Amino acid sequence: MKVALGADHGGFGLKEMLKEKLEKVGHTVIDCGTHDENSCHYPIYAKAVCEEIQDGNAERGILCCGTGIGMSIAANKMRGIRAAVCSDPYSVKFTRLHNDSQVLCLGARVIDHALAEELVEIFLSTEAEGGRHTERIAMIAEIEEESRK
Ligand code: RB5
Repeated sequence: MKVALGADHGGFGLKEMLKEKLEKVGHTVIDCGTHDENSCHYPIYAKAVCEEIQDGNAERGILCCGTGIGMSIAANKMRGIRAAVCSDPYSVKFTRLHNDSQVLCLGARVIDHALAEELVEIFLSTEAEGGRHTERIAMIAEIEEESRK
């Protein structure tokens, strides 16, 4: 699978670890930065990862910052993007099944690397359920369109 990764300085170490693990198991990683631990602005990387999804270059995105929250707020401003900040396996599974989230946001200061790896594995291997959830997702898109005033 093609996966776009992004992080700020708070999530840099987590992103690097995930990049190595994902490539090792055969995923194609698009690394949107940041590329070191210098302080930087998380919205830049949220936008870059979401654009890779909007352009069809990546199927999923993973964004890492200190809490995952800033990344998720920024990513959800991007048209058509459904980003979820998760720190437990259940939420990851259901944001794929029910919300068809394309972007997972992780808090590097909230969860450890082992849990992050587990969450990413679930995120990449769970398909959206469709059915009644399709209509609800369409309603989210409608809200997005209607709010552009
Ligand atoms: C950076 O210190 C921190 O604010 C950022 O990584 C993130 O947690 C924002 O939501």
